[in-house]
Amino acid sequence: MDSPQQLSRSTVLLHWFVALGMIGLTAVGLYMSRAEVWFLYPIHKSIGVLVFGLILLRVVWRLRNGWPAQVAEGSPLEHRLAQLVHWLLIGLTLAMPITGMMHSGAGGHGIAIFGLQLLPSQHKPDAPGEALPYNQNVAEWGEELHEWLGYLLILTVMLHLAGALKHHWVYKDGVLRRMLGQRIET
Ligand code: HEM
Ligand code: HEM
Repeated sequence: MDSPQQLSRSTVLLHWFVALGMIGLTAVGLYMSRAEVWFLYPIHKSIGVLVFGLILLRVVWRLRNGWPAQVAEGSPLEHRLAQLVHWLLIGLTLAMPITGMMHSGAGGHGIAIFGLQLLPSQHKPDAPGEALPYNQNVAEWGEELHEWLGYLLILTVMLHLAGALKHHWVYKDGVLRRMLGQRIET
């Protein structure tokens, strides 16, 4: 369990695996869709589904364990902002893979983890190269949301990073060191 002086190994490992996954998937997602690099699509989708598994574990862990106790440095407004950003980040870690799966799954493109099929693709009988959507509406919502929530994620992560660096360099407190697994004085 987390204590105000030290975060548990589960909190630290889950934070950094999910953070790396989210940042990597955002970079690859933006690149592959802009530059139309088709071979990256199944890789993005496979890793996205695997990271979703870790995200679900993390949400269960958060619900059981509560949020890490706040370190006292910073104004009440900054504490509120940090809380809001943490809620947004947890929400976006859930929303990104769900909307990605809506887009791919309902769009008829199929979902698989490195070849292990979870939802089959289906194709138009008269144009076998084109996907036949299971539900066009859900697929379009998924596509739009996946893109726009992706932009919101980038903005939120930048705020979060700025907050972490301000704690480390300006307040010189233990917020970042604690998330790196170190024991701190409170
Ligand atoms: C887990 C976290 C995920 C993140 C952070 C993420 C992030 C992104 C981003 C930022 C884009 C570029 C969007 C655009 O500008 O159009 C993208 C594209 C895409 N993502 Fe994800 N993604 C995730 C998971 C998934 C999953 C699980 C799937 C499906 C199983 C998926 C399927 C796709 C597809 C098909 C595109 C291309 C969209 C297009 O070409 O219009 N993503 N992703
Ligand atoms: C860019 C690099 C990152 C750094 C330096 C960083 C740093 C930190 C630090 C120091 C904390 C502890 C805050 C506290 O004790 O109040 C924290 C918590 C948190 N971070 Fe990050 N983070 C990063 C990326 C991310 C990303 C990409 C996500 C998710 C998309 C994320 C989600 C969270 C969440 C939800 C918390 C709340 C505590 C928890 O649930 O474990 N972080 N982060």
